[in-house]
Amino acid sequence: MIAIDGPSGSGKSSTARDLARRLGLGYLDTGAMYRAVTVAFLDAGVSPDDTDALIAATTGADLAISLDPDDRWVRVNGRDVTAEIREPRTAQHVSVISRIPACRADLVARQRALMDSDPRGCIAEGRDITTVVYPDADLRILLTASEQARLARRGGELGASVDAAELRDQVVRRDADDSLLVNFTTAADGVLELDTSDMTLSEVVDSIVALAKETE
Ligand code: DC
Repeated sequence: MIAIDGPSGSGKSSTARDLARRLGLGYLDTGAMYRAVTVAFLDAGVSPDDTDALIAATTGADLAISLDPDDRWVRVNGRDVTAEIREPRTAQHVSVISRIPACRADLVARQRALMDSDPRGCIAEGRDITTVVYPDADLRILLTASEQARLARRGGELGASVDAAELRDQVVRRDADDSLLVNFTTAADGVLELDTSDMTLSEVVDSIVALAKETE
């Protein structure tokens, strides 16, 4: 098992996906699960202020996610929301879910079960994988990058669909909100920190492959 955490734009999704391909492991994007639950509560017309209803929407969600790095999809309550979870509306509201401890506990339990279900082993990425979801992983890594590098990367991913203010909201404001319950800016004991500001994706992947070989 490999656990990767980091803030938005640190490169953890692309890194984890490439690593899963290289090492023949499953890939779990835990942020996609928080996003899928967000789509479900917005669809159901639940108010972002109604904590009880948000918890019910989370624990009651019929959630399925692919662990195949080359065939990524996520479904909630029978609906494919693979594209919708990337829309600005979802990103704007997702911290509503990630800030509620009972919602986190429900998703963490699902994430552990998903990781354990993959016979190849799994690489999971998120904010609390190294500390809460899978602290026993063989390799635990915190990816960091300067704010400038993170804004540039997320901007590249989102393209012309967002303006500068929206981009800052998706990176800086969301990280501030998300870090209220979870620390993903400093490495916990035993977690290796890798500052990727001046590294290319393939350099990051190569260095983690080397670390994975050392821990074998
Ligand atoms: O990695 P991402 O941007 O897709 O994550 C979406 C949101 O989910 C993010 O705002 C924080 C939250 N999240 C979390 O709290 N814990 C995780 N393990 C993964 C994501």
